[in-house]
Amino acid sequence: MTTSKAALPLNQILDGDCVERMNALPENSVDLIFADPPYNLQLKGDLHRPDNSKVDAVDDHWDQFDSFRVYDEFSNAWLKAAQRILKPDGAIWVIGSYHNIFRVGTAMQNAGFWMLNDVIWRKSNPMPNFRGKRFTNAHETLIWASKTEKSKPTFNYEALKALNEGIQMRSDWVLPLCTGHERLKNEDGDKAHPTQKPESLLHRVLVATTNPGDVVLDPFFGTGTTGAVAKKLGRDFIGIEREEEYRKVATARLRDVRKYDRSSLEVTQSKRAEPRVPFGQIVERGMLNPGENLFSLNGRHKAKVRADGTLIGDDVKGSIHQVGAALEGAPSCNGWTYWGYKSEGKMVPIDLLRQQVRAEMSDRPN
Ligand SMILES: C[S@@+](CC[C@H](N)C(=O)[O-])C[C@H]1O[C@@H](n2cnc3c(N)ncnc32)[C@H](O)[C@@H]1O
Repeated sequence: MTTSKAALPLNQILDGDCVERMNALPENSVDLIFADPPYNLQLKGDLHRPDNSKVDAVDDHWDQFDSFRVYDEFSNAWLKAAQRILKPDGAIWVIGSYHNIFRVGTAMQNAGFWMLNDVIWRKSNPMPNFRGKRFTNAHETLIWASKTEKSKPTFNYEALKALNEGIQMRSDWVLPLCTGHERLKNEDGDKAHPTQKPESLLHRVLVATTNPGDVVLDPFFGTGTTGAVAKKLGRDFIGIEREEEYRKVATARLRDVRKYDRSSLEVTQSKRAEPRVPFGQIVERGMLNPGENLFSLNGRHKAKVRADGTLIGDDVKGSIHQVGAALEGAPSCNGWTYWGYKSEGKMVPIDLLRQQVRAEMSDRPN
């Protein structure tokens, strides 16, 4: 049983500790969680550039933990709270660096989350290693996991392929750090938050693993990057942030964000997600009539349409797929892309008729 959205504090930033706040939300109520938890950077002393200027590193009190044990207890607590509020088919993304991601990953598996992918966010403009003692730290890791092994999480495979100009999206993403006008500043002109994530990263995450109208929760909201992108993309968000200073920054940011118009939020659907259209429906509706000939698009075969939506050709009877396969001597055949019909002297693939029916289906008001 999932909870109705009406019971949720949608499109709000909740103050306080994320564990307490998540524990107060109904179980099975959230579609996706995006979490950017404290990194536990364990910085020892200040870091300087070669010109002696101080590097603006993450040394804030919210990133301080006394030991790995304390950090692990914190991870276990927020992951347990996150898992309870996820819907059965819900999923979580956690982003981190080498300082914390392995510990968090272990905690996730121990909690029963089911690992789907780890994604490398390769920074196209990383900060150099000023001391020259280690490799330039040029990536962060994101873990994508479903609530349980049985979950069927949303994955908009075709949309991601389209985003990547027709090539399957890989698990290494090259995106720049959040800089320039996107980087929020305080009154003194300094960074408003040390770890503001780029919107491009959240755009990819949300297009890939949510649909418009889904509820996305971010328990470590910071400047509200998740909320800003969710709002643009027509998803509902719930943010949780303990520090008042960051809640203020996020509130001001979200006020200026506009949702993209509804028609531009639709993404390329996977073929499996499209409604099934039986060929018989094409015949019933008179789009093709019994007795009409279909021709294989390779020009080798023809078959006649029958009143029940089957074909007959060279004594072979059956569905558009079966007759196509038999005539080609192939184990299988997609009849929709195999057959065409003649219209005004031109060959037209029958798949166009199926697309016409599907378009009518999607035009129907919900
Ligand atoms: C790594 S930052 C997230 C930055 C964010 N993704 C962005 O783009 O701005 C982690 C945030 O979690 C907040 N935080 C840390 N512990 C928290 C807790 N127990 N409950 C709620 N917020 C917490 C910190 O104040 C900090 O803003």
